[in-house]
Amino acid sequence: MPYYLGIDSSTTSVKALLIDENGDVAGAATTELSLSTPKPLWSEQDPADWWQGAVSSIKQVLQNTGIPSDEIKAIGLTGQMHGLTLLDEAGDVLRPAILWNDQRTGPQCDEIRARLGKQRLVEVTGNDALTGFTAPKILWVRQHEPDIYDEIDQILLPKDYIRYRLTDDYATDKAGAAGTLLLNVKSRNWSVEVLDALEIPAGWLPPTYEGTEVTGTVSDEAALATGLELGTPVVAGGGDQAAQAVGVGAVQPGVIALTLGTSGVVFASAAEPFIEPEGRLHAFCHAVPGRWHMMGVMLSAAGSLRWYRDTLAPGVDFDTLLAPTADIPPGSEGLLFLPYLTGERTPHPDPLARGAFAGITVRHTQAHFTRAVLEGVAFGLRDGFELMKGAGLTDIKQVRVSGGGAKSPIWRQILADVLNVELVTVNTSEGAAYGAALLAAVGAGAWPDVDTATQACIQLTGSTRPQAETVAAYERFYAQYRQLYPALKDISHNLGQLTSE
Ligand code: XUL
Repeated sequence: MPYYLGIDSSTTSVKALLIDENGDVAGAATTELSLSTPKPLWSEQDPADWWQGAVSSIKQVLQNTGIPSDEIKAIGLTGQMHGLTLLDEAGDVLRPAILWNDQRTGPQCDEIRARLGKQRLVEVTGNDALTGFTAPKILWVRQHEPDIYDEIDQILLPKDYIRYRLTDDYATDKAGAAGTLLLNVKSRNWSVEVLDALEIPAGWLPPTYEGTEVTGTVSDEAALATGLELGTPVVAGGGDQAAQAVGVGAVQPGVIALTLGTSGVVFASAAEPFIEPEGRLHAFCHAVPGRWHMMGVMLSAAGSLRWYRDTLAPGVDFDTLLAPTADIPPGSEGLLFLPYLTGERTPHPDPLARGAFAGITVRHTQAHFTRAVLEGVAFGLRDGFELMKGAGLTDIKQVRVSGGGAKSPIWRQILADVLNVELVTVNTSEGAAYGAALLAAVGAGAWPDVDTATQACIQLTGSTRPQAETVAAYERFYAQYRQLYPALKDISHNLGQLTSE
């Protein structure tokens, strides 16, 4: 029987997932990764760890399932986006990779806006310059580590370093490429205009491929290291958010993927590139060939609840913590939570934004605080929805919800009520790795296209409908929530200043 392998190199682990020709999961193995923060705002990883993680997870999944490697017909890659991996002429890594959640490049983002003009930058790349993206990291290395900059021969994204070690080829996918800020998002090719303006040589960038296209095959050396079969095709795959959307079947225009993980993502597929004129949403290529997506990224979604539990209710399991919130009225009797615990991207691209509880009175109990956290995250996600509607993406047919936080029926109901949409759940829970495996299967011809593959493998399992009365109540609280960030912005920045001195 043919099998397909998805490899997801996330920030925290490398997962290898095998699916069969029906899309059923045959097995998975995960290897944890560590993260280094050598200075405040920095976030780095050693690319050698990604490869070691991939080797160990691939070996484990082959061993655990007993599936012979020659039955694996294709491999798909996904992983953390935006990270800067620099290689010299010999293909050796020049410095630790600078990751998506590294915040050191504020001045370089300003420089990019100054060189291109913000409006032109958004028109061409679909995005504003954000500290997480790849291009400002390249400028940072040019300014701060000129000796390393002089040695650069190739720039890769994290998952494409694994591709390089698997196949010996330099290549990337269009979805990941869009997250560098160097792609013309409409033409789906590197932008000569942006590269020229930033003085970055085009020769440093790998060729770009659609998500299901084969970029190379497993090399001798990689076959030996992993136990995979020499010559197994490797498809482009996609950045983690695009692959996650494939993994829950959010591939058609009008179908939204709402992911409630550490971060919170509102992801809309589109048949044409919608660009939010201020660049407050990400406009990227989809991992589905010829499609695009818009995305709002909230940095602390379920991460806010985890922080809250760990700090203010340590040792309490999430079910016990959330149960009493069912008795608290919508709006938590006037207690609001602002979820910017690690700065924010959407709708306020502000690494210095801070969180807050507002409106505390003696009536408020722990259950009020817990519910306020759930509601604050939902309001933050609604901001992403509103921006999408404002950018012209008004035809929302379905919202597919996934991620750890979405397991809570209480949180799903709050989301449905705050967003005033029906939320549906699906039968798949392996996220981006599953999406990458499906892209591999389509690349190998198991299904004619991604639409057919997702329709065959992904079924709806449940639905949460908005309740009219609660929707109306949340409208009023959302209006107040909207005013919190502008009211607190200067104070947040000043507090950051005071504590960094
Ligand atoms: C997407 C993004 C994250 C990272 C890490 O824009 O920054 O999804 O890819 O998961």
